[in-house]
Order: sequence, then C-alpha cells, then structure tokens
Amino acid sequence: MKNLVVVGTQWGDEGKGKIVDLLTENFDVVARAQGGHNAGHTVIIGGKKYILHLIPSGILHPGKICVIGNGVVFDPFAFIQELEELEDIDYSDRLFVSDRCHLIMPYHRAVEKAEEERLGDNRIGTTNRGIGPAYEDKVARRGIRMGDLGSPVIFRKRLEEVVRSKNLLLKEVYNSEPLSADQIYEDYMGLADVVLPMVTDTADMLSRLDRSGKKILFEGAQGALLDIDHGTYPFVTSSNSTSGGVCTGTGIGPARIDGVVGISKAYTTRVGAGPFPTEYSGSLGETFRSVGDEYGASTGRPRRCGCFDGVITRYSCNVNSVTTLVITKLDVLDQQEQIEICTGYKYKGEVFTTVPMHAEVLEEVEPVIETWKGWKKDTSGIRQYSELPQEARDYLKRLRDYLETDISVVSVGPDREETLFVDDSPYAGALMRR
Ligand code: GDP
Ligand code: IMO
Ligand code: MG
Repeated sequence: MKNLVVVGTQWGDEGKGKIVDLLTENFDVVARAQGGHNAGHTVIIGGKKYILHLIPSGILHPGKICVIGNGVVFDPFAFIQELEELEDIDYSDRLFVSDRCHLIMPYHRAVEKAEEERLGDNRIGTTNRGIGPAYEDKVARRGIRMGDLGSPVIFRKRLEEVVRSKNLLLKEVYNSEPLSADQIYEDYMGLADVVLPMVTDTADMLSRLDRSGKKILFEGAQGALLDIDHGTYPFVTSSNSTSGGVCTGTGIGPARIDGVVGISKAYTTRVGAGPFPTEYSGSLGETFRSVGDEYGASTGRPRRCGCFDGVITRYSCNVNSVTTLVITKLDVLDQQEQIEICTGYKYKGEVFTTVPMHAEVLEEVEPVIETWKGWKKDTSGIRQYSELPQEARDYLKRLRDYLETDISVVSVGPDREETLFVDDSPYAGALMRR
C-alpha cells in the first residue's frame, strides 16, 4: 500500500499519534489535511513524550518530509511555539506549509470564546483555539490565507476589511472588546520571516513526490464522529475528519489513495460536550480515566469514558471505507471482570444499528450491551499476538466480526514496541513493509 490514510474512528484521541509514528518508518512523507492545533497527538519514544498539535507526527523521524496541507487552519503563533518545543529535532528543509492554508486570527479566538460563553449550558465545549470561526470565514470567502502573508499590501487590505466587520460583531453582538487591525498586522508580519520560508504550493509538491514514487502517509486529526458532515452534529469540529477530507485537504485525488487505516480504542472516550451513548457515569468511568490516563493532550480536560460502541465504530468503518483497523489501549481493559460492547441503540421501542442524525435522539438512546469475560492478566508485556490471553483474542474476534472489518494491529501500551501484529490479518505485513 503506497499511499495510506490514518483516521480516528471514534471521537478523537484514539492513539493516531502513536500509530502514525510507528508507520512513518515505511513512508517518505507525512501530511496533515484538516483541523489545526485542536489536535493533540502523543508519541512516546524511548520514554520521552512529545505532543504534536499542528505539525505532523512524522517530524520525529529524521529525514522524513512533513506537509501541512491546504485544508488545515493554521495559527502561526501556535506553530512557532510547537517548533520551539521540538528543540532536539532537526526540521530544517523538510517541513512545508501550504500557501492555501487559512490563517487563524485573534478575532477567531475572540468570537469563539464569546459564542461559547453565550451558549452557556448548550456550548460545544470546543478547544477554544479559533478553529470553527476560521473555517467559517473560509467558507464565507473572507478568510486570510498563508500566502497572503507574503504580500503585505494584500494582507493589510484583507485584514482591515475583516477586522472592521469582526469588531462590529464583537462590540454589538457579544459586548466584547474590539481588536486593532494595526496590532494584528504588526504581530503577523513579525512572524512572516520565520514561517514564509516553509510556505509553498504543497498540492503541487505532493503530486510531484507521489509521481516520483515516494510513499505518503496522511495523518488524520480528530475522529469520524467529530466530522462536520458525518459526526454528531452540532457537537463536532468544523472540518472533514473522515478519509475523504484527505483529498480536498491536500490536493491528492482518491485514485492515489491505496488504503485507510482506522484507529479505534478498545473502549470509547469523548472530550467536550455532546451525546455519548455508552458513557460510564460513576466509578467505572473514573477507573477507565485513571487506568487509561484519559486527559486531553491539548487542553488537559478529563475525557469522558465508556465501553466500546460498535454502532459508531461500524458506521465509521463505512464512512471512511476503512481497509483495516488498529485497536489501541487493549491493556487498559486488563483488570476488568467483564468487558462490554454496545451492538445497538434502543429508542422508543425500536433498535437502531446505525447512528441517528439528531444529537437529541442519540442523547436518549439506551445501548444494547453484550458482555464478554475479562482476562484479568497484564497484557502490556506481551509482544506476540498469539500470546494474548484467549479471552482477549475472543474479544478482538468479536469486534472484527461485528464491525465486518479486518483488525491488523493491537496496541498494548503507548511505546512503539508495545504493538502486536495480528497473525491472520492480510494487512499486518503490508503495513510494516517499505
Ligand atoms: P491521538 O489524538 O489519536 O493521537 O491520541 P492522543 O495522543 O490524544 O491520546 C492517546 C493516549 O493514549 C496518549 O496518551 C498515548 O500515549 C496513549 N496510548 C496510545 N496507545 C496506547 C496503548 O495501547 N495503551 C496505553 N495504555 N496507552 C496508549
Ligand atoms: P485529536 O486529533 C478529541 C473536540 C472538542 C470539541 C469539538 C469541537 O487529538 O484526536 P474544536 O475546537 O475542534 O472546534 O472543538 O471537537 N475535539 C477533539 N476531541 N481529540 C481531538 O483531536 C479533538 N479536536 C477537537 O473537544 O468537543
Ligand atoms: Mg488527541
């Protein structure tokens, strides 16, 4: 499989960072296509922890080309801070940013904060990084793009126009402080020298690399249930985080994609507001949170935890056309007496096996639960799939059968080595071949 997409199949934080890092060895290029620094991708190498937000996780591998594609919304201040955190990594001449990326501006953060406050109990629970408002401006055709920074006259003209209308909104609707176009101009121009040398037409660059035989790994951010079209709207992010988003977000067409690797936790988590049918309230949720260390990699917020939701994950396998799945964090279930799987949703006398379109309905469904025997053994030291306890293999087989999707990799810990390849998967070998 030459060009591969990695996507989250739940509500984000499935362990995409770890798996992208694991696969990068076999690729030449790693590209992001959507989202922004709302993502938090954790990679642990030799005990050292890195959290990537805007920069592809592939940057941690010396020599690999990393691309931030046109579909990403780009905050230059967050970018520079992240570069500073990568102090021991040499990224020179191998990190590129699309000239078509839309810029996140201070008014995006200000409007988002004001709108979330206004919504009160009905808030989305966003990461407050200006992601949604930046995508709003892109679609409304008033966005400012990365390439505009290279043309100060154009940048200033667009900025003044937009700031005028944003200040009206901030003052009249949200009763908040207006922003100064002069100040924003100075701040952004101050960063231009650092960022512009990395800015290029990345769609053209990726096509050339692809044609010359280089292998491209596309690193998804967020998860399918946070997708603006396929997710639990309105409790979603503002981009297409499903596999289709890769094509529009990088300029590489679907005919050049050879496979989609879906990442799923062995249970389910969600951070932020919105429906979560299998959520555990009470002590079981707390146990999962503490054993799985379930705190947001970007915001530090506690993640909500629940059992594996087969309905959303099967839906996800479909809307992403997942070729093969990676199941992460199996080790978190090690000490459970019983392991639960949700196989349907009961609602007003009916049973659904797909995701209803209204968040209000999903909020009220009752999960249909299947119970499997726990294995009560530590799996984190296991390095061969065949050595997993029988109960763990039975659980994984049930997931594969229910999801009607291959499972090729199982992760039993955050480190690279804590990874098992499933013996009878036709894809396990292909994923690890150059
Ligand atoms: P991402 O956003 O999909 O990249 O995932 P995050 O990095 O936000 O969250 C996943 C968390 O789980 C990180 O802290 C990882 O280090 C950790 N992790 C990944 N795989 C495993 C695993 O198999 N077992 C355990 N215990 N932790 C894991
Ligand atoms: P990674 O790539 C988990 C959630 C937020 C909120 C909703 C909208 O690490 O999996 P936004 O700021 O994007 O407008 O917030 O989406 N969210 C994530 N949840 N993992 C992420 O990224 C997320 N990125 C956004 O919590 O509910
Ligand atoms: Mg994350």
